Amino acid sequence: MLIAPSILSADFANLERDVKRAEEAGAKYIHIDAMDGNFVNNLTLGPNVVQAIRPHTKLPLDCHLMVEDPEKLIPSFAKAGADIISIHVEATKHIHGALQMIRNEDVAAGVVINPGTPVEAIKAVLGDVDLVLVMTVNPGFGGQSFIESTVSKISELNRLREEKGYDFLIEVDGGITDKTIKRCYQAGADIFVAGSYIYGAKDMERAFQKLKGAISN
Ligand code: DX5
Ligand code: ZN
Repeated sequence: MLIAPSILSADFANLERDVKRAEEAGAKYIHIDAMDGNFVNNLTLGPNVVQAIRPHTKLPLDCHLMVEDPEKLIPSFAKAGADIISIHVEATKHIHGALQMIRNEDVAAGVVINPGTPVEAIKAVLGDVDLVLVMTVNPGFGGQSFIESTVSKISELNRLREEKGYDFLIEVDGGITDKTIKRCYQAGADIFVAGSYIYGAKDMERAFQKLKGAISN
């Protein structure tokens, strides 16, 4: 099972240490939340932070862009060392073109849907993406409660993937804990982003074990 700790909940004054701690504890990706103060009401990490982290981990850097008109920032994130760039369908007028832009940079392309956005909104691009990120909270902040109504969208994507033979991975993001992870797993999610659950834990290794264990309970 693929756990992607979100460094949004890490100590920004000790990012190198916190990225390495997560890698040692069993992370499979490092999830980096970029927010522009416009698409969401928060301002966080940009390409300069991706570039700063890049030499300190071998893990793929999974960049989640919560920004309006992501086209403007795709080249900088790619150049900084992003391995995955995911963009919100709600944030661009040209989702197909923007995803193409990511792929042309030789970076894996992800499309993201907010809790209020149906799967229907991304059906036309499901054959063009490496990853679909289903937001399980409204984007903007860590530490929010999981929204149950998003689970049926994971199942729907999983069904479409099987029916049409697509090969995208399904990622979930927001409110993932040992209490909520199992429902996402059973619905078909492959990658589990966890911010406050991992970085808020006293014992990070135990937090990873609890997430993994929660699936078999
Ligand atoms: C929210 C971000 C998430 C956030 C998750 O907009 O996209 O990646 O860090 O944090 P938790 O796991 O605390 O809900
Ligand atoms: Zn995120």
